[in-house]
Amino acid sequence: MKISKTMQSALNNQITLEANASNSYLAMASWCEITGYEGGASFFYAQSDEERTHMLKIVRYLNGLGVPAVIPATKLPASNFKSLESILKTALNSEQIVTAAIHKMVEIAQKEKDHSTYAFLEWFVNEQVQEETKFETLIQKFELIGRDKLAINEIDKILAASATVSTPA
Ligand code: FEO
Repeated sequence: MKISKTMQSALNNQITLEANASNSYLAMASWCEITGYEGGASFFYAQSDEERTHMLKIVRYLNGLGVPAVIPATKLPASNFKSLESILKTALNSEQIVTAAIHKMVEIAQKEKDHSTYAFLEWFVNEQVQEETKFETLIQKFELIGRDKLAINEIDKILAASATVSTPA
């Protein structure tokens, strides 16, 4: 099975994006843990693990096609944050960037009639819908519950309850 150089390069770039997301969520988890947000820590540790599974899915897809996956150096993530709310907004923004990159790859696959990569990417398209909705819903809690100490404590509990890793099939 052959895929184009353009698609190979896009998929390798996506590996970097997923690796950076995993690292960035790890930094967020660590900040939450040291700041006393136990729920936020559990949530972002799980998110970090999940991003690694996304990265691996692409690594294994490329290698399975006989195209060497490029394992990237990750960039130094932000490690100092203002608040739980600001972290969630940063995370949503990062998911929106990932979604745009995936949609771009879908367009390349369509243009090149690369049906196998198109089918492979379908999982990511659906996953991104869930990811963005998850962060939007969590951010909405600040409007619904509030931003005082008790409200933030409640939101931290909601984050604890949302800490799950969904592994790609
Ligand atoms: Fe793998 Fe949350 O994007």
